Amino acid sequence: MSLDKKNSINNILEESRIFPPSKKFAENSNIRSQKEFLSLKKQALNNPTKFWESFAKSEIDWFEPFQTVLDSDNAPFFKWFKEGKINITYNCLDRHIKKGLGAKTALIWEGEPGDSKKYTYEELLKEVCKAANALKSIGVKKGDLVCIYMPMIPEAMFAMLACARIGAPHSVVFGGFSSEALKDRLIDGNARFVITADGGFRKDKVIELKQAVDAAIESGADKVVEKVVVVQRTKKNISMVDDRDLWWHELLKDQKDQCEPEVMNSEDRLFILYTSGSTGKPKGVVHTIGGYNLWSHLTFKWIFDLKDDDIYWCTADVGWITGHSYIVYGPLSNGATTLMYEGVPRPSNLGAFWEIVQKYKVSIFYTAPTAIRAFMKSGREIPDKYNLESLRLLGTVGEPINPEAWIWYKDVIGKNKCPIVDTWWQTETGGVMISPLPGVVATKPGSATFPLPGIEVEIVDKNGDKVEENDGGYLIIKKPWPGMMRTIHGNSERYLESYWEYISFKGEKNVYFAGDGARIDEDGYIWIMGRVDDVISVSGHRLGTMEIESALVSHKSVAESAVVGKKDDLKGEVIVAFVSLEKDVNGSSELVEDLKKHVVHEIGIIAKPEKIIISDSLPKTRSGKIMRRILRSLAAGEEISGDISTLEDSSVLEKLKELS
Ligand code: PRX
Repeated sequence: MSLDKKNSINNILEESRIFPPSKKFAENSNIRSQKEFLSLKKQALNNPTKFWESFAKSEIDWFEPFQTVLDSDNAPFFKWFKEGKINITYNCLDRHIKKGLGAKTALIWEGEPGDSKKYTYEELLKEVCKAANALKSIGVKKGDLVCIYMPMIPEAMFAMLACARIGAPHSVVFGGFSSEALKDRLIDGNARFVITADGGFRKDKVIELKQAVDAAIESGADKVVEKVVVVQRTKKNISMVDDRDLWWHELLKDQKDQCEPEVMNSEDRLFILYTSGSTGKPKGVVHTIGGYNLWSHLTFKWIFDLKDDDIYWCTADVGWITGHSYIVYGPLSNGATTLMYEGVPRPSNLGAFWEIVQKYKVSIFYTAPTAIRAFMKSGREIPDKYNLESLRLLGTVGEPINPEAWIWYKDVIGKNKCPIVDTWWQTETGGVMISPLPGVVATKPGSATFPLPGIEVEIVDKNGDKVEENDGGYLIIKKPWPGMMRTIHGNSERYLESYWEYISFKGEKNVYFAGDGARIDEDGYIWIMGRVDDVISVSGHRLGTMEIESALVSHKSVAESAVVGKKDDLKGEVIVAFVSLEKDVNGSSELVEDLKKHVVHEIGIIAKPEKIIISDSLPKTRSGKIMRRILRSLAAGEEISGDISTLEDSSVLEKLKELS
């Protein structure tokens, strides 16, 4: 790992403008005074146990109370609220209905072809109960892992909540992943059940999800998968396998719309979600119920400054952690109205976003910098055609936002009256860790500002020593928090190595290393500088270079490959692959296209390399290690700086320069 990305990223994020929240927003916000904010921070610092205990008791309903707030006996395998009995769906649904909110809209759904639906809390609970009973009827039991591979339709939410209702952890796999990637996740998680759809709409195209499930099962997942439940969305022809495949609507037809929530332990698994790391296959990040419920709930409430009549829209997909925490669990646990849209931003539908804001009077809008840059590129004429007056708060997530895009967002979308919350977090953290509280913190474009109350962040060097103001370093989190991941499914060693053993901080062992570089400026603002490991972010989608390299070398013509990220104005980063070929294979543009297709087949469309450079050999050290630093410079078209004396054969460089 290195911090050599630091300079280029610092250049983008050099910014000194500062924007306090407007008087009007601050006056009406839930946490509105510096005093209140600082007092929360102080309470958390002075007595973390009491701090978390009081929120866990006031914000979350328990069937039986917990005795221990945090059990660190087997750290860093921390346990939160361990004796507590809970069901997250009770907190997301039943308790609101009991308080008389049954008729409030829980979910607004907008389909890609323009169809739409709304569900009240009462209706949502009924759908979830029917689905929960249906799952039970096909043999799903408490503790069984259920894979959900779905488009952005209400049934995806019903399926997640139905699993949680009966205590079956879910493993949602993003619909853009290929059958191969799905197969790996099914096998790794030992998923006996899959919920999918006959397809999903992407404008005129249909994403063939069921075919991908069939292919995943045929190519190896048959050893784990027993039943496949299929939601009818597109009505396109698909084949159903006898005794294995069942239609969702037929299965749910006669189910009762009541299902008691299973009484779960706080530390029982709620879900596994796969994410990319710098080595090996994607890792199954494990989250458990109690801590995750509190963290997704509390962060949502703090950061989005929720009011009873808010219409909240997060544009993520439920296949990512943002969708889990901020489309499903965080909003519903707070009794909010959450909007779900089947489409994704693309040049032909950018107006659709603002049409939806106008149609439903969306008040809180949460999206990714890549989307904002796409909106910006297509010009303000598009959003200017719509009435965006309802918006009062804007958020971003997933990648660093460049100040230019931040200002555009604030001006063109937020009409300079909406605060922007730039939220930093990860699949592993369960919920947001660093973000402004919108009524209190003055923002700087491109900075995620400060850690939330209870979160202690430091920027250190490799030895764990705190770096100087404005110097780049490794971002670490010094104290456990309720929403933290608990382990990596089936690989606790990797959990320790990846997150807890990389940095030793002042001899303390239990310090979490996030994999990101950051700096803290003279006012204490945190500026995220991007990943410092071999993870790249394409349009905010996290991909490991090793995963893409493995996909490339699994092609019969490829001998070796090295993948790097290249800065891109729209997508943040794009993938550039350097490959050398097997003996007697000649490079051609057809082969390059074939290799791109191969990566899409192995991982999915999000991993398609922008560019593949075929070379006789790759730059290596004398000990045989590929010098990625050099490849990154070549891909970026930059001068190669730094020491190249360890390069085994310097003539490789000249050849690569010509090819790049
Ligand atoms: O590098 C950071 C970047 O996204 C990574 C986490 O990716 P993932 O687990 O897929 O979760 C994305 C959604 C939470 C982080 O390690 N990242 C996330 N948010 C920000 C960010 N980088 C800069 N600014 C952010 N606000």
